[in-house]
Amino acid sequence: MEFQGIGSKFTAASVEALAVVVFKDDNANDGILKELDALTGGQVADTIKAKEINGGQGETALIRFSAKGVKATRLLLVGCGERDKYKASSVAIASGTAARTLRKLNLKSFAFDARIDGDAVEIAQNAVQGVITSQFELDKYKTKDKNTKSLSKFVVHVDGGKPADLKKGVERGQIIGDSMNFARELANEPPNILHPTEMAKRAQAMAKEAGLKCEVLDEAKMEKLGMGSLISVTKGSEQPAKLIVLRYTPAKSTAKKGDVIGLVGKGITFDTGGISLKPGEGMDAMKYDMSGGATTLAAMRAIGLLKPSVPVIGVVAAVENMPDGKASRPSDVVTAMNGKTIEILNTDAEGRLILADAVAYAEKQGANRIIDMATLTGAVIIALGGHNTGIMGNDQELVDELISIGKETGEGFWQLPLGPEYSKDIRSDIADIKNIGPRGKAGTIMGAVFIQEFVDKAKWAHLDIAGTAWHDGVRPHQAKGPTGVAVRTLVKFVEKSQ
Ligand code: BES
Ligand code: ZN
Ligand code: ZN
Repeated sequence: MEFQGIGSKFTAASVEALAVVVFKDDNANDGILKELDALTGGQVADTIKAKEINGGQGETALIRFSAKGVKATRLLLVGCGERDKYKASSVAIASGTAARTLRKLNLKSFAFDARIDGDAVEIAQNAVQGVITSQFELDKYKTKDKNTKSLSKFVVHVDGGKPADLKKGVERGQIIGDSMNFARELANEPPNILHPTEMAKRAQAMAKEAGLKCEVLDEAKMEKLGMGSLISVTKGSEQPAKLIVLRYTPAKSTAKKGDVIGLVGKGITFDTGGISLKPGEGMDAMKYDMSGGATTLAAMRAIGLLKPSVPVIGVVAAVENMPDGKASRPSDVVTAMNGKTIEILNTDAEGRLILADAVAYAEKQGANRIIDMATLTGAVIIALGGHNTGIMGNDQELVDELISIGKETGEGFWQLPLGPEYSKDIRSDIADIKNIGPRGKAGTIMGAVFIQEFVDKAKWAHLDIAGTAWHDGVRPHQAKGPTGVAVRTLVKFVEKSQ
């Protein structure tokens, strides 16, 4: 697909359709909308007046027209809600909605005006990312009823945008959009295909493409490092666990000496619960239990291609959680890499067990600001649903920064508290800690305080993406399924650390 940014002559773009944003209580008498109204013989005003579109989020209306000197013969109005709530990150939703709607109508090319003032790089980036992520579909394994329609050209118009800024924005949008889709594709893979070995293979191929160093640690190496916590989870699986380690080193670093960002992901390629077996109903959803790992790989991909001036290390613990004769039992005691002993009371609380060693490893490799991502608890879905990722950490500044960046990228993060009173709840009778807290109490926090035990001096934040990594229904701008959550926020976080 071809992407282009233009700073003038929106209506002259060589495309089949134009698309423009309309707001609630919009009228057709300002700026570009007025121009388009004139071009279509008053149809924009008529369409709004007839309430064919009210400007609500996700609404669309198509106008057919023919005007001299204009190649496009369709105008799509895209509802974006209230004007004062519309921001740069809304642009991706608008362009994505337009792209899905026009593709369905079998149109191949369109030009888009987001009707927003601001940084041309950011606007073009969001518009392009929105189009790319809107085209992702779940039909990889279908032999029939596959989506066969596709767009071939997208033009984003930012009035007065300089060519260099537009080019940069388009490139950035492609990198971030493709990286998000990379995460989504991994999350959607069935677990018989995407086992830990395959996840490591895909990470290696990605690293080559993105100019990252990639090292894959096998079980023998992990045993040697003393990762008894991680290893305990893979015991019941025929699939060997892999610890994927990606390194991005900038050509010229502007980071303070010794500063390294660590991104760590839970890569459970399938979570049966182990001996603490999950109920059959809905277990299929647990193929997405590697979404934190996928987010880590995707963010590292974007970082490798965007080349910020700070070093970043990515660590993904890729493991399958299965029950069998060799599997961990509830009441087993294991020793993690940092020497702490863990009483495993529930083998279904396995994410924290693999993250314990992965986080400790990231710190040992030099990371002094660590962000881990995990579909860690069902409890976070009960607390926050699908609209906010749970965030917790040992450093308020780091947590605040991620929340604030999330507001810019359109990704919600909601903080839950940690503290010694919660940490007490995971003290074990016979070992240092146990992997679950009291039944039915603060499940998401219990996961976080457990991981905290394996962070030494680093600043650390934990993102529980169990509710946000998968969306059950289709949305106007997005297919149902994996969302690629947190990739945009992590990339921005790294870039802001430059
Ligand atoms: N992968 C699950 C978390 C999960 C559960 C995500 C349901 C989405 C939907 C995790 O490994 C898990 O099973 N957590 C347990 C922890 C419990 C045993 C303390 C949970 O949340 O039930
Ligand atoms: Zn589990
Ligand atoms: Zn899990």
